[in-house]
Amino acid sequence: MDSFTDIFSKPELTKQDILQMLLSDGENRSKLFAKASEVKEKYVGNVVYFRGLIEFSNICSKNCFYCGIRKGNRKVKRYNLPDEQIIEAARFAFESNYGSVVLQGGEIEGEAFTTRIENLLRKIKEVSGGKLGITLSVGEQSPEVYRRWYEAGAHRYLLRIESSNRDLYYRIHPGDETHRFERRLQALYDLREAGYQVGTGVMIGLPFQTSEHLAEDLLFMKKLDIDMCGMGPYIEHADTPLWQYRGQLLPLDERFDLALKMIAILRILMKDINIASATALQAIDPIGREKALKIGANIIMPNITPGQYRNDYKLYENKPCTDEEASDCKNCLEARIHMSGNKIGFDEWGDSKHFSKRIE
Ligand code: 5AD
Ligand code: SF4
Ligand code: FES
Repeated sequence: MDSFTDIFSKPELTKQDILQMLLSDGENRSKLFAKASEVKEKYVGNVVYFRGLIEFSNICSKNCFYCGIRKGNRKVKRYNLPDEQIIEAARFAFESNYGSVVLQGGEIEGEAFTTRIENLLRKIKEVSGGKLGITLSVGEQSPEVYRRWYEAGAHRYLLRIESSNRDLYYRIHPGDETHRFERRLQALYDLREAGYQVGTGVMIGLPFQTSEHLAEDLLFMKKLDIDMCGMGPYIEHADTPLWQYRGQLLPLDERFDLALKMIAILRILMKDINIASATALQAIDPIGREKALKIGANIIMPNITPGQYRNDYKLYENKPCTDEEASDCKNCLEARIHMSGNKIGFDEWGDSKHFSKRIE
């Protein structure tokens, strides 16, 4: 076994090195976090970029076994924000000097949906004088749809692979035509081809998931040469099929710690990418997102969904900020970022430095 100092100086990390870091405790764990923090400061600086998150609809055609808003959950009150409210939220982001917004919603395919998103993208560009950056997070679509949205102004796309292990993927998704691992993987290639900065990620602490799976997830992201990552702890939801395995899960604090380690290792592995501090971290620890910013993450996604809908976008239990309004999160987060020793990159897109180099 190599010492952590030896591991950090290697040009390429092996699966074994990653496993050693994932399982570290005590002094080695502290060394890992210190190294990741140093890499962050050197390669992306202590600046945090804001992406105003608009959860515009919880209507979804899929049935992921872990997700609270899955199609099969009859208890969810479904909503679809009117276009004007989405534009209003984007305007709030712009006026609050957030550099970008993220449009996130359940996965829907079809011409009506495609055109709607296309129009929203154009409109958001218009109200911000072309200044707001726009990230989309609306799932698997055809290459043609990805191209149309890119043309209309989206330049980043988030599509988590959820798990890069095919077998585990099928244990957390139905094995039907709408949940095909190969299609999800292909979508990541299509997005890159269309010109987007591409983000992916996984859930950490899933039932049936091993440390080996997690180490492989990190190597998968490296191999795919992603520009951005969003990953956070899995949090069980009572109205989902995976709830039955809650007895087999790691305790919440261990899932949280594993998520922090995943972020730290990814920062060391992919020095100049954008890494989001996932909201799910805060569902476990009240200052979870700040902890992630300290050890490697550089992006935060303040929720700017109008307050009345937030309670209905519950992917998991204990989701934070569901009783708040956009302006509450704004004040709260600014104070939190400063406490974490970071500056806020107001009015900047905060593009992935990795992407800029990739297309040079
Ligand atoms: N716990 C944690 N994250 C979840 N997501 C969905 N359900 C859960 C859950 N129960 C994540 C998925 C998805 C993203 C939008 O939310 O990774 O890609
Ligand atoms: Fe739909 Fe996404 Fe939830 Fe899956 S994780 S059910 S695609 S909203
Ligand atoms: Fe939403 Fe603190 S970030 S209230």
